[in-house]
Parts: sequence; C-alpha cells; structure tokens
Amino acid sequence: MGCCHYFAPTDGGSAAFTVEMPRYTFGRGTMREIGARLRMRGLTRVALVTDAYLAGTAPMETVRASMRAAGVEFAEYAEVRIEPNDSGVLDCARFVAEGRFDGVLAVGGGSVIDTAKGALVYATHPAPATDYFAPPAGAGRAVPGPLRPIVACPTTAGTGSEATGLSVIRIGSLDTKFVIASRHILPVEAVVDPTWMDTLPRTVVASSGFDLLSHAIETYTARAYTRWPAVEDPAARPMIQGANPWSDLHAREALRIVGAMLERGVADAADHEARDALIWAASLAGMAFGNCGTHLPHAFSYGVTHLLREFRIPADYPAGDGPFVPHGISVIVNSPSVFRFTARGAPERHLEAAACLGVTARDATPDDAGEVVAGRIVELMRATGMPNGLGALGFTAADAPALADSALRQRRAIGNAPRDTARDDAIAIFEGAVSYW
Ligand SMILES: [Fe+2]
Repeated sequence: MGCCHYFAPTDGGSAAFTVEMPRYTFGRGTMREIGARLRMRGLTRVALVTDAYLAGTAPMETVRASMRAAGVEFAEYAEVRIEPNDSGVLDCARFVAEGRFDGVLAVGGGSVIDTAKGALVYATHPAPATDYFAPPAGAGRAVPGPLRPIVACPTTAGTGSEATGLSVIRIGSLDTKFVIASRHILPVEAVVDPTWMDTLPRTVVASSGFDLLSHAIETYTARAYTRWPAVEDPAARPMIQGANPWSDLHAREALRIVGAMLERGVADAADHEARDALIWAASLAGMAFGNCGTHLPHAFSYGVTHLLREFRIPADYPAGDGPFVPHGISVIVNSPSVFRFTARGAPERHLEAAACLGVTARDATPDDAGEVVAGRIVELMRATGMPNGLGALGFTAADAPALADSALRQRRAIGNAPRDTARDDAIAIFEGAVSYW
C-alpha cells in the first residue's frame, strides 16, 4: 500500500494484513429475520444465550417468535452475568455441550456475546479454564479448530463484539480480564437491530458510547501493522495485527458518528436518528478493532476494574452488588491521559481522530495533537455526565504504581500502542488520569 507513509514497510515487518468479517445485517425490525437466517445456515437447534433481564423483554419474545416461525428449536441459557468470569463461561459451556446444539445465538451486550464465544470454545475443545487466554493469565493456546457457528445480536452500542473474533473475560483467580483471540469465535452472522436501543438507560448509552469511541481512536492510533513482525504461517497472523487501511476506514466513520451523535443519543431515548447511528458506529468500530486490536486505554481499563474498591454506578445501570464500574467508563477515564502520551508516536493520526470527532483546530501543530484529542474527549465526558477521571472512582495518584503493574500484564495491547510504554510511562499516565477538570 503506497497510499500512506504510516504503513511504510519496515525491516522484518509484516507486509500483509487479513480482514475477518461476519455476514452482516443492519436495520430496524431485523430481529424478526433471525429465525429465517438461522434456517438459511442450516441450523435447526440452537442455544439461545442471553441474560435474565433481556430474557423478559418484548424484543426477546420477537426473537423467539421468529425462531418458532422458522421451525428452529432452541433452549435458553439466561444466566450470563455482567462482567462475566471464567467460571461463568464454563457453566455456559456445559449447557452448550449437553444440549447437542448445532449453533449458538447470542442476544445481548458484550458480556453475553463474549460469554457465548468462550463457552463454544470450551464446549467444543474442553481444556483447563485459562488455557485459551492470552499469557500471562493463560497458556495462550490456539483454539484448535472450527466451532459450531455463532450468530450475534448486540443490544447495546458499544462492544462491537458481533464483528470480532475476541472474547474478553474476567479470570476469577487473578481478578482481572484477559482475551481469547481466535478467528474461530468470529460470529458467522451479525444481526443488528437498533430497536434494542429504544429502552436503554442513559448511563448505558453513555458508557457504551465511550467504549466505541475509544475502540475507534485506539484503532486509528495503533501501531501500524507493518511495524509488527512478519509471520510465515498465515494461520499465525494475529487478529491483533495493528492499524491497517481496513481498520482506518471503519474507525474514521465510527468517530464521525460518535462525535456527532453521542450527546444526543444519551440525552434523548426517542432520538432514533442518534441512537440508531450509535449502534451502527459500534459495529464499525468492532470491524476496525477486531482486525487491528486496541491499545493502552483498554489495557489500562483492566487495571482499573482489577483494583476498584468502592465505585458504584448510577441507579439506572443494571449491575449486581458491590464495587462495579461499567467497561466503557473504566476505559474512558484513562483515555485522555493516554492520548496525551501516545500522540508523540503518531501526532497526525491523533489530530485526524480529533477532526473526525468534530474538532476544528486548523492551527494545531503536531505538538498540540495529544491536547487536542484529549480536550475533545473531556468535553464529551463532561457533556454526558461521566466521572471526572480515576479520582471519581476512588483512586488517588498513590494507586498509580499498582494500576500500572496490573495493566502492563496486557502485553499484546501494550505493544499495539504507537509508542513503547515503560512502567514509568504507565505510572505517569495513571497519575495524569486522576482528574481532568
Ligand atoms: Fe471495549
């Protein structure tokens, strides 16, 4: 690709990238197509994986009716918990294995879709709980081969999991999140119906919206794929392969949409134009980071959830008891401080990302890039009622070394940043994320 110096060849660097995508259907009312779509795949008996709240909603009854109408048998697993852990994945895997299904339909947010992906892996290729997770939490074992098909229907505008071969699960013994990355868990089909957005609480729209926003900026500013080592065996080419022209294309559009629509979508559940656009943008960001990988804000968010002591979210967010921070919030509290650091590694890309988010800083120089993009994120955080940095989650600057030590275990994501990140850098980033205004 000679179009952009960001992808200039390097000695020993990759000269190729691979794109993985599900068949993709988008539109209001498309949940009524689910039964027919399963049937088109030859699936006649599926596991419907969801959570207890969604199981009782009217749209879920529409999904069930579409399967009955198409003659698709199904059994339901509605036990998925928010922020799922490895024991939840194994529990779901037992359900999937015992039911002798010929496919899995996952209807839910990231917790549901990621649990279904992980369950299918362990149901098909049983192994000790952490075998398929990335090191150092797991053995980093490759998923041995194809799985039965998974069809994903997202109900929030954030995770993008319907378009990725990634599953993020909390490892109970380590109390932090790690990733299973495999093209075998990429959904064969995604059915994205914005009807799910109509009843989402504003905190959920805000948190998931910042998740998608950070997916898109992280992708756009990630290390170029040409700066990752080349692989001889095509099967070994990782999905977390660095920024590339495909991920750029989708990340830019996702940023344009979220920059224009986030405040509106949070403020007004009846603003279908905004909320429908946000769930489209979440998929775009998924198509981007699923073929690139995220970097520091996501890696650092796992340190935040790991060490969280006291934060409780607003009452309109569905969660259990105890300290809890929604994923999107755990990411975005780090993002402005991260981008102030990473901008030096790719200043033009940070400025372009800010422009996509709606900033008109024509006089900005590369030296301003970090401040420009951080300033726009902070503006959006304030406008949508987000916590003011890590301090609002109960952390102080004294927690920065422990947060850094936890986050730096996410080796692949740390390596996907446009700059090398040492422990001292990570500590300084966390110190800079304690408060923004
Ligand atoms: Fe995320």
